Amino acid sequence: MKTGFSVFLAVFVTIGASWCGLVLAPALQLGGAKQETILNGTDTYPLQPTGAATLGLQVYRANACAACHTEQACQTGVVCEISLTGLGVYQPADFKAFVRSLFVLPELASYTNAIGASINNWSGELPKPILITADKKIATEMADRLKAVGVKSEMNILATGPDIARGWGIRQSVAADYLYAQPVQLGSLRAGPDLSNIGVRVPDAGLLLKHLFAPGSVTKDSTMPAFRHLFEVRKIGSAPSPDALNLTGKFAPPTGYEVVPTTDAKYLAAYLQSLKANAPLVEAPFTP
Ligand code: HEC
Repeated sequence: MKTGFSVFLAVFVTIGASWCGLVLAPALQLGGAKQETILNGTDTYPLQPTGAATLGLQVYRANACAACHTEQACQTGVVCEISLTGLGVYQPADFKAFVRSLFVLPELASYTNAIGASINNWSGELPKPILITADKKIATEMADRLKAVGVKSEMNILATGPDIARGWGIRQSVAADYLYAQPVQLGSLRAGPDLSNIGVRVPDAGLLLKHLFAPGSVTKDSTMPAFRHLFEVRKIGSAPSPDALNLTGKFAPPTGYEVVPTTDAKYLAAYLQSLKANAPLVEAPFTP
């Protein structure tokens, strides 16, 4: 009997602790999450998605898009970028000479090659990024030196990391991005690109629909499966439908026929268009 009770207690504590860690703690942390105000602005983020986009999430889910696509861009850090916006009294050539005179500063020692290479063939177009550094002190020092001689510059905060470099986002995904996603479609396998920012990358619904009907018509040799059941291939009636896909070559339907998206396909496209992780937030800052 005594052992029976110990086993019960051990199981109870184990399950109870997991429940606290996996259910209670996240609910306490994020359960009350609300829209927030974007960094240095007055807009709220995220906006309530349209009805079509909300229904589109269910189409996304039903078609298991998350089996091949993630919706979570990662970042490894942020860097400060000093970008020139006005040269003041300088001509590009004297300005270059001035910048080279700064190379004696010990704190710039590890940046001189990069700065030198970036200004070598520069003919004076503005804005011109001149220094990228993970060290805010060095960026501030550089900005102060430029300001002292009347050169205008601004400091931008940029997110960095492999996903950002691939163009999958401007910053990392954070909890606020999923405020209205029910259920959240994080995904874990990346057979295709991350879609957390696809609404910014491909804002055109026509192109998204074309991609779903015939991925190869948008990306050469695409390995994405075609989602033909989301479309109807039908005989053109008295006039072609304004929704008909613009397909050419081997992807085009037979003459006299057109490919039109079903309502599900339109919802799905609206959902993809709504995926825009493009607001700077306190927890994910960057300069737009
Ligand atoms: C079997 C894996 C697989 C499935 C399932 C899948 N995709 Fe893809 N998807 C890919 C691959 C691979 C690519 C990259 C090649 C290309 O652009 O066609 C891609 C590309 C895309 C792109 C273009 C991304 C960009 O950066 O331009 C979109 C949009 C997209 N998929 C949406 C979807 C949607 C919506 C679904 C569900 C209806 C879906 N995919 C299902 C594999 C998949």
